[in-house]
Amino acid sequence: MEVLLGVTGCIGAYKVPELVRLLRAGGAGVTVVMTRNAGWFVTEGTLQTLSQRPVYGDMFHPRTADGIEHIDLARRADLLLVAPATAHTLASFAGGLADDLLSTIYLASACPVMVAPAMNSFMYQHSAVQANLEILRRRGVEVVGPGTGELACGESGPGRLLEPADIAAKALALAGGKTGQILAGLNVVISSGPTREPLDGVRFLSNPATGRMGHALAEAAIHRGATVTLVSGPTHLPDPAGARVVHVTRVEEMRHAILEGSEGSDLVVMAAAVGDYRLARPAAGKLKKSARGLDLHLEPAPDILAELGRRRGSAPRPVLVGFAAETDDLVLNARRKLEAKNLDHIVANPVNRAGAGFGAETNQVTLISRNGDTDSWPVMSKSQVAARLLDHLAGVHFSAAAGTEG
Ligand code: C5P
Repeated sequence: MEVLLGVTGCIGAYKVPELVRLLRAGGAGVTVVMTRNAGWFVTEGTLQTLSQRPVYGDMFHPRTADGIEHIDLARRADLLLVAPATAHTLASFAGGLADDLLSTIYLASACPVMVAPAMNSFMYQHSAVQANLEILRRRGVEVVGPGTGELACGESGPGRLLEPADIAAKALALAGGKTGQILAGLNVVISSGPTREPLDGVRFLSNPATGRMGHALAEAAIHRGATVTLVSGPTHLPDPAGARVVHVTRVEEMRHAILEGSEGSDLVVMAAAVGDYRLARPAAGKLKKSARGLDLHLEPAPDILAELGRRRGSAPRPVLVGFAAETDDLVLNARRKLEAKNLDHIVANPVNRAGAGFGAETNQVTLISRNGDTDSWPVMSKSQVAARLLDHLAGVHFSAAAGTEG
């Protein structure tokens, strides 16, 4: 097992010698690449002694005979681990810069990539840093930490480099291919985005859903080894690589695609904001403007999730997960929906709160389960919500230890 360890310039680098020791004790060969500033916090000599290998630094070092060392290093690695990862390095990776050996290796690598951010809390919470982390997560980069606590600058908050033992455990598992595949062999159907119901030939009834939550779930499920069908209403998001994507517009089209996709599936997560109403017979052309106004009678649209719940009855598969966008009595209303639609879990989503709901980068959800468990999660990016939800579902429904629990 070969770990390529990128070390960047921040005080957290003082923990790296211990990390190198733990990685090697776990059976990994470790090759260290330091950025120019890393040497201020930890010496090349220390890391060379502990890794028992030369430490790489400069892109165009005389040691490099053919100048393509970054390609060789990237090719040999089972994991590229960057610990600590500074805001600067995260930005380089997110932006695809190749201005030093480490950022160039990142672009040249085909192996899993794990980053352990470490910086001042304000820096970490800055929207620029969060946006870069979001880009990296979307690409499948594993982000571990940071921890929360006292920082070298005297402040307290998120930003501490995770402890070497935690980083080493996660890194060794990922390098050994032991994680990331917890949904392998499973068929997962995810819905995303809004639906549109025509009012006439040019107008429609819809909602502001962007598809961010559903697409993040699809990416997280692919990353965990699932075979994913993503049924998406109109969004501006690119199709997640590796998913079978069915593009739909109307509720009935989404219903058809979901019912078809969920045959024999193991898990259905309905993150789409499906319309509840539709016009029975929309005019084919554009309705004329009238001074008298316009009365429209809307009929209920089919409830896809309720139909899946009825079809499944008391069978354990597919596991059914709904989202509940609520403005009042979040938990009570969500629990009622869980029961009415015969779901296993519902993710309740306060859509009237800042940092949650439609179009936001982040979400603040409460996971409610059929067994009565109610777990309120902090504000997180939608990718983090997706990762945590799928890890939870994998543990409860799909791990060997879960036995026959539905
Ligand atoms: O009842 P409500 O629309 O609030 O329930 C939300 C959940 O039901 C979401 O998971 C949504 O995707 C799903 N739903 C559906 N079909 C509808 C309306 C909502 O599957 N027509």
